[in-house]
Amino acid sequence: MKKSVAILASGSGSNAENIIRYFRSKNNKDVCFPVIISNKEDAYVHERAKNLGVSSYTFKKSDFESGKVLEFLKEQSIDFIILAGFLLKVPENLLQAYPNKIINIHPALLPKFGGKGMYGSHVHEAVVVAKEKESGITIHYVNENYDEGQIIFQAQCEVLPTDTPDDVAEKVHALEYEFFPKVIEQKL
Ligand code: GAR
Repeated sequence: MKKSVAILASGSGSNAENIIRYFRSKNNKDVCFPVIISNKEDAYVHERAKNLGVSSYTFKKSDFESGKVLEFLKEQSIDFIILAGFLLKVPENLLQAYPNKIINIHPALLPKFGGKGMYGSHVHEAVVVAKEKESGITIHYVNENYDEGQIIFQAQCEVLPTDTPDDVAEKVHALEYEFFPKVIEQKL
């Protein structure tokens, strides 16, 4: 059966774009990405959505909490939700409506460097400050606590003593681009 997937993103949206391009390049007709949703009106992900010909929408934090976003997802017949750099906490109404159907990517090896405030560059800075020898990605189901849902997949990269947070970000992004679409493909 054809699956309709919504991508939620708060920032640049490079993962969102990469996921959509991956499925398009495989000419996979069983999966479609009709909407990208952001909580930020000025997020660059909207620009990417326009270039990809995908509709994008902005909803406020209160719209997520009130059930307005859930109503919208149901209207759009969305089966699955991917968080690709989405920084709001996923509210209970969405978790209940989409059990084991919301997947997040985190730019570190959970349970290390997770939790509230640990996102994007903050994570890579913390990894460098802690003098970690490796970092990586964690793809996991979303539950009621930040970054604590069941882990589906992890991949590692080396962190050198000379690496800056930007260097780590680059290595982590490369892992994200390689593995996130494939893991989604397996789990849909
Ligand atoms: C990605 O590195 C993703 O792992 C991270 O935000 C970045 C978004 O980049 N997510 C988190 O930190 C969630 N806690 P993108 O907007 O270019 O895809």
